[in-house]
Amino acid sequence: MPEISAMPDFSPGVPADRLPAHVAFIMDGNGRWAKARGLNRFEGHLRGVKTVMEVVENSFRFGIKTVTLYAFSTENQTRPAEEVAALMNLLKTFIGEYLPDLLKNEVRLRVIGDISWLPEDVGAAVKNAVSRTEKFSGHTLVVALNYSSRDEILRAVSAYAKDVAAGTQATGTPSWETFADYLDTAGISDPDLIIRTSGELRLSNFLLLQAAYSEFYFCDTLWPDFSKEDLKKALADYASRERRFGKTGEQIRR
Ligand code: FPP
Repeated sequence: MPEISAMPDFSPGVPADRLPAHVAFIMDGNGRWAKARGLNRFEGHLRGVKTVMEVVENSFRFGIKTVTLYAFSTENQTRPAEEVAALMNLLKTFIGEYLPDLLKNEVRLRVIGDISWLPEDVGAAVKNAVSRTEKFSGHTLVVALNYSSRDEILRAVSAYAKDVAAGTQATGTPSWETFADYLDTAGISDPDLIIRTSGELRLSNFLLLQAAYSEFYFCDTLWPDFSKEDLKKALADYASRERRFGKTGEQIRR
């Protein structure tokens, strides 16, 4: 990634005040992309990593502050062992190779999900990159690794109950803000826009609570083919929407 500060003017095609601050991606279609070319699924994931780097770079250049990527779901554990191992290797390589870019551009890496499940070397690479970038605050890259919303909620409830039992949290119904601090996404703003590629119209256990007021954008493009133009289209669509957060349109426009 070139240095963000040294990047030429790069217009997302919509006014800055209509841009989402946080965009989350459900990167789908790597397998179908590979199959259509007579390649094995791994080739699709490999090409997907190239798209990851382009999308992250373009998003930050456009002025988006936080990007979340759904890289590996808890349910993905049930894929064939060789595909899981290949994805783990790919993630470790990606983190190792991308860390200098993250440091150079002062991008904070956050990981959501239960990383205690990850192979030891992958977990170590993740922890190292997270700790070396934790002082940065301008841009944040969030990678969902062995993540599912239901798993996150169960872990949060369990940690919260432990604190209530220990007397460090009050009994009774907590405020949303208090509970949200127990989620993996504590301190990260909710996604303004969630983009899913490959024509599938579902959330697949991704950020179910954080998506309460997110806007959704679905496109048919398979993840390896998702381009800067596709991103611009999604951003233009987002910019045309009126977010009401339960209020009336009149209240929002007033
Ligand atoms: C879904 O496509 C994609 C995944 C389960 C993995 C996503 C991983 C990457 C893009 C590469 C690694 C990620 C990072 C952050 C470096 P699929 O395999 O379900 O596609 P299909 O539905 O066409 O089979």
